[in-house]
Amino acid sequence: MKVLEINGGRTLEGTIRISGSKNSSVALIPAAILADSEVTICNVPEITDTDALTEILDYLGATVKRASESIVIDPTTIVNKEIPEEMSSKLRASYYFMPVLLAKFGHVEMYFPGGCSIGARPIDQTLKGFKALGATIEEQENRYIIHANRLIGAHVYLDMPSVGATINTMLVAVKAQGNTIIENAAKEPEIVNVATFLNNMGARITGAGTSEIRITGVEKLEGCYTEVIPDRIETGTYIIAGSLAGNHLKIDNIIPEHVEMLILKMQEMGVDIEVGADYVIVSKTTSLRPVKIKTQGYPGFATDLQQPVTVLLTQCEGESILEETVYENRFKNVRYLNQMGANIDVFEKKIKIHGLTELTGNQVEATDLRAGACLVLAGLIATGTTTISNIGPVLRGYEHLVEKLTEVGASISLKEV
Ligand code: EPZ
Repeated sequence: MKVLEINGGRTLEGTIRISGSKNSSVALIPAAILADSEVTICNVPEITDTDALTEILDYLGATVKRASESIVIDPTTIVNKEIPEEMSSKLRASYYFMPVLLAKFGHVEMYFPGGCSIGARPIDQTLKGFKALGATIEEQENRYIIHANRLIGAHVYLDMPSVGATINTMLVAVKAQGNTIIENAAKEPEIVNVATFLNNMGARITGAGTSEIRITGVEKLEGCYTEVIPDRIETGTYIIAGSLAGNHLKIDNIIPEHVEMLILKMQEMGVDIEVGADYVIVSKTTSLRPVKIKTQGYPGFATDLQQPVTVLLTQCEGESILEETVYENRFKNVRYLNQMGANIDVFEKKIKIHGLTELTGNQVEATDLRAGACLVLAGLIATGTTTISNIGPVLRGYEHLVEKLTEVGASISLKEV
């Protein structure tokens, strides 16, 4: 079994360069199928999630060429066959193949897993979007058979601003006949990244990044070039690392606006942070003030940074409150932080962090991707050694995590035990 071993107390100095966004890449790669000729996607992170998706493309018969940080996909040889469960169950984002196969072939059959450890994560809003556009859906346990003789534009009102449902509906609507309006759409930057890719192919999408997206369906979509935006969650994770253990640590190749809420909250705490055009420089700061944080859809405080920022809140002097409004089970990291010396009370939808507490290394487990990131951050400042098991989920979401942190002075290594 692989574990991460971290010896805490090192100062982080130098520059960390942010990679392409996992949550954009996992939508852009399936979206390539919609093109009728070769596409190039640049700045794709080398993580197991993107590997799992290019494996599905390969299985469907597309030609996939992986260069250092880009992928060239020729989708013209794709055949429409069922995606087996062992492929689709590796990650939630495999469901982005549903809309693109439906839009291209009018039919898709695939397994899709339910929730994972942070919540139920149903896909009812995605299915609502497909039905509104003319599809019929047959569910057999975790297997979906989706069919549409004709896809016709519609007015889709999402019950909540779901990122996945917004992207899935957009991916079908670009090839539907007539106009589609998506109301109550999510506004995450990853949605804008996907819309830009589709418009580069010849789609006609306006309003991406707002709560109302308008799409006029087109007959053909041509191959093109697009670039993955910097990963805003990786950005936020390393900014937090800098505020915990940095000495003018530079986080480079970022879009500061995409982590604005985190930066504002850190400034409220009193963190020493300098914001540049495409970077921040951040240092460990003492006597931090406690704050209240409530996670929300973009541009609110990102739910994916909730677990990482908890470590910083343990270093604030006083009681901070963190409310999680997006997922129903995203505090599994707390028990391990408390084992390391934190003093956190858990309630149904929020936690109360009583700081400042010294952290001590311990044997802990990554229960999910961002919980694992939280424990890496805790290990960086804990006295002694922290060993993190079940590290797979963390490596799926952070490209070259060990290399990037080692480069700036952390003592972190991947070990086989
Ligand atoms: C995306 O998940 C991200 N994943 C998540 O990041 C992120 O936490 C989430 O958006 C919110 O920002 C990817 O982009 C691959 P949602 P997604 O649909 O699309 C409920 C990470 O750590 N809901 O906006 O699945 C759902 O249960 C991951 O990188 C329904 O009830 O998120 C959740 O409580 C974790 N019905 C909430 O809405 C639906 O049909 C937000 O889900 C869809 C969602």
